[in-house]
Amino acid sequence: MPGGVKTEVRTYQMYINGEWVDSQSSKTFPVYDPATEEVIAQVPEANAEDVNRAVAAAKAAFEDGPWATTTAQERGRVLFRLADKIRQNAAKLAELEARNCGKPIVEAEYDIADVATCFEYYGGLATKILGYVNPVPDNAMNLTLKEPIGVAGQIIPWNYPLLMGAWKLAPALAAGCTCILKPAEQTPITALEMANWLADVGLPPGVVNVITGFGETCGAPLVQHPDVNKIAFTGSAAVGKIIVKMAADTVKRVTLELGGKSPNIFFADADFEAAIDGALFGVFINQGEVCSAGSRILVQKTIYKKFVDAMTEKAKKIKLGAPLDRDTKMGPLVSKEQFERVRSYQEIGKKEAKVAIGGGRAEKFAKGYYVEPTIFYDVSNSARIAREEIFGPVAAVIPFEDEKDAVKIANDSPYGLAAAVWTRDIFKAFRAVKALRAGIVWVNHMQPTYVEAPWGGYKQSGFGRELGPWGIEEYLETKQVHINLNEAPIGWY
Ligand code: NAI
Ligand code: MG
Repeated sequence: MPGGVKTEVRTYQMYINGEWVDSQSSKTFPVYDPATEEVIAQVPEANAEDVNRAVAAAKAAFEDGPWATTTAQERGRVLFRLADKIRQNAAKLAELEARNCGKPIVEAEYDIADVATCFEYYGGLATKILGYVNPVPDNAMNLTLKEPIGVAGQIIPWNYPLLMGAWKLAPALAAGCTCILKPAEQTPITALEMANWLADVGLPPGVVNVITGFGETCGAPLVQHPDVNKIAFTGSAAVGKIIVKMAADTVKRVTLELGGKSPNIFFADADFEAAIDGALFGVFINQGEVCSAGSRILVQKTIYKKFVDAMTEKAKKIKLGAPLDRDTKMGPLVSKEQFERVRSYQEIGKKEAKVAIGGGRAEKFAKGYYVEPTIFYDVSNSARIAREEIFGPVAAVIPFEDEKDAVKIANDSPYGLAAAVWTRDIFKAFRAVKALRAGIVWVNHMQPTYVEAPWGGYKQSGFGRELGPWGIEEYLETKQVHINLNEAPIGWY
């Protein structure tokens, strides 16, 4: 809160089987405002027992509850009503989101608008799940049916808290699945607030459960639970790898969105002003806590010096401030842990490359996890700051010779979530689009994200796709149905 006003600490319960409950252990844990470092809420600390309870509710709701027999039209209307609730409460949700994760309020408002759009999109898509009639060479009718996968465990991160929840819940519900959503321990508040409306919009008990807890004690038992049919995860590559291993024992469907080290490539013929803007936006939006952050900035040698200078000048003007201040362009990082992680990479960067701007904590703030927007240049693509995801406002600028060199450097990464290329030459742009090994490629822009278009990565950025029709596909099983139309015996024996 601005002005050092100590805020009221609210104690939340979590939402299981349509009821507000404490954890079975009665334990809670604190949730912070990263700008003031104050505790703003206490939430239940769920463990394996609570996971069992939530999974049992989701399983019963899938198998026996009224959800199992709802029509696609009814599921669609539920999602439309949820979108309306989000819009009606957008201001409050945006404020909670900004306070809890530190992002500027203006960005939080965009996020919440996107949450509503996401529920609405999948509300519409619920009635467009189609099957097939397969032309088999027999007197038969062979069909393909699309059916919900069942119980979905959804583990999400803290950088876009409610939006990541919507990306997971909306397609799952449209498909007819039931869900256990585990928000990140740093940012559980908006998901819990949203749970207040789930019954009102027509979701029967157990269809959506929101449990709060830590990765190892709440996320892991969810992944291991034999009655969970699918895990959707967004977060670190390290945890993604653990999840795949844990899911193997029960052969769960898994989708992973694991971030990256996305190249933002600038050719000498790009519009210079737009390019500088795009380079900064690509890596500093949301404090750089973005899975698709353009954290490797590849610049053609002929404009390299001018580019680094112009970027640096413009970066000096980025306004750091309180998340609720409408002029703020960069807030604090989400947590002490993330702050320390980013700080350590700033120190690593100082040993590996040259500093154009930043490199430390933003000292004008007495409190809060603020770091300076940081630009390193003359970075080698083999440096740690060019290979490892930092997830903060830290850019690595790398020079390149020509098109071939740019693509080679861009693709030389264990990740492949996104890439962007800036040029006015359409031949060059399209050649780069084809050559880049990434799930999303932007031309003359970076970061626009649409619920209508697929989201997900190549290589170690994960597998599966969210959003659009691709997103619902990940919550559907495919059933083949063969109907023999020939009444005579098979006649084999
Ligand atoms: P994390 O991957 O540990 O956390 C993400 C989610 O996974 C949280 O809900 C957490 O509780 C859960 N989780 C953690 N360990 C788990 C386990 N063993 N089993 C099941 N669930 C588990 O991410 P963290 O520690 O918050 O951030 C570390 C780094 O991860 C960041 O610096 C960033 O590089 C990356 N990250 C990437 C994100 C993306 O959007 N791709 C989002 C958040 C973090
Ligand atoms: Mg972690």
